[in-house]
Amino acid sequence: MLTAEEVLTSIGSTAALADVEKLWDDSMAAYPGAEKIPFLQDDAITSNRKATGFGDEMDGPFLRAAAAIRANEALARLSWHCFWRVFLSDKGVYPPSGWPEPEMLGEDRGLIYLLPAIGYVPLVRENHKRLGFPEDVTMETIAQVRHYCDDNFRRGHDGRPGIYLNQLGWMRYYTTDPYVRIGRLEFWLQPSSRDIYVYRNRKTGKTIAFPPAGVTYLMDGNRLGKPEEYEGHETFTSKLEYKDGCVIGTPLSPKGYAIQEEISLPLVDWEMVFSKGDVSLGMHIPSGGGMDFEKCADSLKRAKTFFTKHFPDTPPKAVVCSSWIFNTQLQEIFPPEANLCRFQRGLYLVPCASSPGEGLWFVFLRGWPLDFATAPRETTLQKKILDYLAEGHRWRGGQMFILMDDIDNFRDGTYLD
Ligand SMILES: CC(C)(COP(=O)(O)OP(=O)(O)OC[C@H]1O[C@@H](n2cnc3c(N)ncnc32)[C@H](O)[C@@H]1OP(=O)(O)O)[C@@H](O)C(=O)NCCC(=O)NCCS
Repeated sequence: MLTAEEVLTSIGSTAALADVEKLWDDSMAAYPGAEKIPFLQDDAITSNRKATGFGDEMDGPFLRAAAAIRANEALARLSWHCFWRVFLSDKGVYPPSGWPEPEMLGEDRGLIYLLPAIGYVPLVRENHKRLGFPEDVTMETIAQVRHYCDDNFRRGHDGRPGIYLNQLGWMRYYTTDPYVRIGRLEFWLQPSSRDIYVYRNRKTGKTIAFPPAGVTYLMDGNRLGKPEEYEGHETFTSKLEYKDGCVIGTPLSPKGYAIQEEISLPLVDWEMVFSKGDVSLGMHIPSGGGMDFEKCADSLKRAKTFFTKHFPDTPPKAVVCSSWIFNTQLQEIFPPEANLCRFQRGLYLVPCASSPGEGLWFVFLRGWPLDFATAPRETTLQKKILDYLAEGHRWRGGQMFILMDDIDNFRDGTYLD
């Protein structure tokens, strides 16, 4: 059996050995042989290519690369190891990190990882079949790997196909969890990990969210990242307690900041409708297609119908999401009518701890810190964010929720009356 080191040596670089070595023996124990790797079979490739929505012009590169990989024991083992670690490992998901692209594959070198990635098609199908999801939803969901390639990897690699290794780990969820794309957005049924407590007035329907006690906020109600980042800043700390039949706490404005005051809500009038641990739909925003308000509204509405139908015993209470897309600084950067601003105004925004480079990878396809001088300025989004950062602003991420009961009423200003 070839060792991980021998494989990398034959490819030309052992720089990634420490990562490639992880679970090598486990994946090699399951290695079916170069000619029998399921996702490198010609008929499987054509079928996976079609299912993921790649055009038939990709048959040539995919089949050519697969033949070259099958003919080279080191490449075949590396490609298998990638697939096994992402999709089959029973010891946790270990997406590849820093693995080399074999130069001998020329322009097809990114396909050594894209082929195992599109190999997730039968696994997603099986998962969705088990969950009783209809074929059209499965097909919509499966296309995500093409977006990873066409919207992200090609954009960062002069148009050649492949997949960023850091996006592979996420793909496992499509094969194991109730995770689907419905229209513009993706949704994942799971218990909410967001530490918020949402109350609704039984008569008026007004909604007020509280953070837990003890959260540090800047005086403008925003949060930073690590605790040491607050040194030298004036701050306040949230309060949350239950006393005399009331919940007393530091409220969060639906506009996405904490308000330095205490309010008291009598529990006879206010019901807690969502909190940590409740079933929710984690929302994810796949690349491409813009954030057209009506498309997003349609996606939310269809998700509500879908999950209510498929999980009648555990219906979600809210849709939640953490992303740079809910960073309220976007409202300083873009005009009020911009898609991103309108979408934010339709949701209850929640400040959260975040890093100064939160989510910027999705815009610049580069890690933090960004070199402002060389970061791409090809799109309006990139230019505006770079100009904003150059003014010295500390970038943030954000969170949001929308209660399931409010989705039919989703509009610009759902929580702003
Ligand atoms: C970024 C995004 C939310 C923009 O939505 P939108 O404001 O409706 O965007 P539009 O499609 O109208 O594009 C607006 C501008 O941003 C650019 N743009 C869109 N997505 C971009 C991205 N991921 N990176 C860089 N620029 C992008 C467009 O090219 C356009 O610029 P132009 O006017 O110079 O052509 C969305 O298109 C997207 O694809 N995001 C990537 C996925 C993501 O970040 N998910 C969250 C992960 S936590």
